[in-house]
Amino acid sequence: MSSSIISKAIIPAAGLGTRLLPATKAHPKEMLPIGRKPALQYVVEELQAAKIHDILMVTGRRKRSIEDHFDADPPLVTALKQAGNEALLQDLDFLEGRSHFFFTRQSEPKGLGHAVSLGAGFVEDQHCVVALGDSLIAGENPAAPLLAMMQAHVELNAAAMIAVEIVPAEETFRYGIVDVGDRQPTPGEPMVVQDIVEKPPAGTAPSRLAVAARYVFSPVIFEALERIVPDGRGELQLTDAIRWLVRMEQPVYAWLLDPVHKRYDVGNFESYYRAFIDFALADERYGYLVRKYIKSLAYEF
Ligand code: G1P
Repeated sequence: MSSSIISKAIIPAAGLGTRLLPATKAHPKEMLPIGRKPALQYVVEELQAAKIHDILMVTGRRKRSIEDHFDADPPLVTALKQAGNEALLQDLDFLEGRSHFFFTRQSEPKGLGHAVSLGAGFVEDQHCVVALGDSLIAGENPAAPLLAMMQAHVELNAAAMIAVEIVPAEETFRYGIVDVGDRQPTPGEPMVVQDIVEKPPAGTAPSRLAVAARYVFSPVIFEALERIVPDGRGELQLTDAIRWLVRMEQPVYAWLLDPVHKRYDVGNFESYYRAFIDFALADERYGYLVRKYIKSLAYEF
């Protein structure tokens, strides 16, 4: 079995974006620009580079611009071709080729697990990727971690392969945290997950290994999502479904991102600003201007 059997991905993008109000009052957080592109376009381009072309986006109310952005636009493409605007045409490459975009809606905030469960009919009995729509992976080849995770997932016949990153101890309460026992975390080596807990209260986290928004699953995840119950806030947590897999002695692994790949979370202003600045600085076309500007500001600090 080769990793090319994995051709489907679910992008949950239904979150309300409350932490980004008022920017997200009428605008999806996933569509906020990071440099010249909306955040979600980077996620889609990462999947396309990993040869995943059937993409289901789970959206919701006030998220219609997502469907517009990922819809082919022949008149726009014709106009850009006539104007000979190769650079802009290149930026619209994500609409070309073999990718198919599908959309479904999560009408109530019932949690990440519920959003993923809406993809059960789309994925059927295949393996799939789940990529959170508000998290970007940056680096020279942003698809490299996902490609390696898919390969390992297939080789190990895993039920789940979960990307993780090391976070400061005082931030563990914001994430799903995995317990890999005494295993020394090493990038690129799958670690058997012994337990996983969603947003542990301060001081109770089993490690500093935080779930980092990319997952590869076997179809058993949908059974797990049916077996679990909502948490105290009435939400179905994907983390609880993964915990159920662990309890059922299914092979679940954590995959530590290597230091050359950085994850950005667009879910709050602090990390949004950080993402925007780093991407603006790295921009091939405009980065030098941004650098010049920031240098000029530095004299004023
Ligand atoms: C979700 C997951 C959490 C994960 C995080 C990564 O939380 O539930 O396990 O660590 O994404 O971004 P959220 O940020 O949606 O609250």
